[in-house]
Amino acid sequence: MIVRLPGVYPPQHDTSLLSDALLFEPLTAGSRVLDLCCGTGALSVAARRAGAGHVVAVDISRRAQVNTWLNAVVNRKRVDVRRGDLTDAVGSELFDLIISNPPYVPALDDALPTAGIARAWDAGKDGRSVLDRIAARAPDHVAPGGTLLLLQSALCGVDKTEAILEEFGMHVEVSARASVPFGPVMTGRRMMLESRGLITADQDTEQLVIIRATK
Ligand SMILES: C[S@@+](CC[C@H](N)C(=O)[O-])C[C@H]1O[C@@H](n2cnc3c(N)ncnc32)[C@H](O)[C@@H]1O
Repeated sequence: MIVRLPGVYPPQHDTSLLSDALLFEPLTAGSRVLDLCCGTGALSVAARRAGAGHVVAVDISRRAQVNTWLNAVVNRKRVDVRRGDLTDAVGSELFDLIISNPPYVPALDDALPTAGIARAWDAGKDGRSVLDRIAARAPDHVAPGGTLLLLQSALCGVDKTEAILEEFGMHVEVSARASVPFGPVMTGRRMMLESRGLITADQDTEQLVIIRATK
């Protein structure tokens, strides 16, 4: 069971796509997993259930930090929950698997929210403000032979993420795709997205993509 505190991102299609994907990763009691942008901690709990012995969860939101701690307790799964900006909270630690479902929705402008639930999805005009930073930073925290599973919408450029990861020495592939209906945020931004040429007039779905990058 996953509980959600007010103001924390409710687990959705993107969460379950990643949670399904991590079942294909070889997790053991010796595996170290980093859940970057953990929200409710649903993926941290899923990683522990899938067999990972040590899970670190990081979110910039204090509510998300508390929520992840709560879900770890409710599900009796030990999770090391930290608050911080992406990998700032993990020093020079290395992980066998990093999973991340970050904010990736194109916003009105490039100013990122500093509070509130919009911090879970607003990602600058091109939707890449957080993705670009993860693609450039996460490789330093993937252990040799380890893997990064990074989820994004195809609307904000899969090629760009792949190019950054390759530049930082990772081998990349798209390991999963799913077409999902627009949620309330995307529906509310349809006109803006259409005016920027990111969607067509009759489009009401987006494609979610998991980029699997190995070292
Ligand atoms: C789309 S939600 C995903 C939550 C959860 N992983 C899931 O799949 O349901 C993105 C999360 O990223 C967090 N976040 C946004 N910017 C961040 C940053 N710079 N560092 C760490 N977490 C961040 C938000 O607070 C939010 O909880």
